[in-house]
Amino acid sequence: MTKMRVYKLAQEFGITSKELIEKLQQLGINVINHMSTLEEDDVKVVMELFKESNNNEKINEKEEEAMQKIKIADKVVVQDLAKLLQKTPSELITKLIQLGIMATINQEIDFDIAEIVALEFGYEVEKEDTKEEQEDILIPEDKPEDLLPRPPIVTVMGHVDHGKTSLLDAIRKTNVTAKEAGGITQHIGASEVHINGKKIVFLDTPGHEAFTSMRARGAQVTDISIIVVAADDGIMPQTIEAINHSRSANVPIIVAINKIDKPNINIDRVKQELADQGLLVEEWGGDVIAVPVSALKGENIDTLLEMVLLVAEIEELKANPNRKAVGTVIEAQLDKGRGPVATVLVQNGTLKIGDSVVVGACYGKVRAMINYMGKRLKEAGPSTPVEILGLSEVPQSGDQLIVVENDKIARSIAENRKEKLREEQMKASTKVSLDDLFKQM
Ligand code: GTP
Ligand code: MG
Repeated sequence: MTKMRVYKLAQEFGITSKELIEKLQQLGINVINHMSTLEEDDVKVVMELFKESNNNEKINEKEEEAMQKIKIADKVVVQDLAKLLQKTPSELITKLIQLGIMATINQEIDFDIAEIVALEFGYEVEKEDTKEEQEDILIPEDKPEDLLPRPPIVTVMGHVDHGKTSLLDAIRKTNVTAKEAGGITQHIGASEVHINGKKIVFLDTPGHEAFTSMRARGAQVTDISIIVVAADDGIMPQTIEAINHSRSANVPIIVAINKIDKPNINIDRVKQELADQGLLVEEWGGDVIAVPVSALKGENIDTLLEMVLLVAEIEELKANPNRKAVGTVIEAQLDKGRGPVATVLVQNGTLKIGDSVVVGACYGKVRAMINYMGKRLKEAGPSTPVEILGLSEVPQSGDQLIVVENDKIARSIAENRKEKLREEQMKASTKVSLDDLFKQM
């Protein structure tokens, strides 16, 4: 080896002269610039040094090549990750603690954390694409031979103060007094009434709300609507609204002309007003059933219920109890002790404890089911309102509940939907701001 200029040596190593000069300074070899000449001994030292570091790099490369790759989803349960890393859960938990993360064996950790831990154990991590795996659910159609009759689902609607709540109370009373006196407790936002061995389901959510929010979201839950009209007040704006809602949903209407116990009322006037809205009552040659009732006195309630059953019979309402359940959320809230609680109307199939469900953008496993009497159920067939526990979050009313194969699928679908919702919201918000921009111009 001979003397060498700095720039020549730098070329040998494939680095810039400036980089080499810095290295030389670190070694205590001072040079003026890239044209400076290095003594033979110095060249030797530098050569040795570069050989070593090159070898080290190669060793590192080899190590990297040897790193095993694993795929994990957005979130992974500690136990599952341990399996993937071929470690015991406690080894993994210890490592997590070292990183300042407290997690139990059944806990889920985020991808980012899982990645760090995996790297620590010498694994390379790739994100699993769950989206392609499970896009969304297709609900299979039932074969006609699998369908069996199911009870009707009825919504009570009408103008403010015309007696909707009173009517539902009267209906429940009729039902309860027939079996056991007193003790009418309503546990969920829906109730079942049994008349002559036949069941009718009433949705107690304020009629309009249920119709509006659910119709807006494409959910149809009602089979029949009872429109309450106070005989002393007649057809009012919200009565017309209720009629229109029922019509657009193609739901048969039964009119309950209420408060007939009141003095100076004119039932014919109500019938005339109904006719003006295109609802011609049977006794006037039309096909609309109108039953005069008094919710307060409990008068004619049984006739009204018989009419409901009659209309239901004509409708030939059917469902297949021998399939995975499909239903709709009537209402939902967060309960301090029990977590997310949703009242779901099972519309088709049979919902069972332990079922994995997707509810809108939430998922879960049915932990408990409670019926309108506050009784725990193991199964809920078609046309059964039940309160369910075990959801990941609080769903929205009108959300559809669908039973799927397993938890993993349920979660992946729910996450997928959430992602889509987020994207839509983002789009909507940019749209709004653009509109605003144009408005200002
Ligand atoms: P909102 O929920 O506020 O829209 O009212 P609603 O339609 O549920 O009416 P609600 O049952 O609360 O009854 C309103 C008022 O009418 C109450 O004071 C009831 O006592 C009275 N009422 C209801 N039904 C009858 C009835 O058949 N006869 C008489 N006389 N009063 C009734
Ligand atoms: Mg009310």
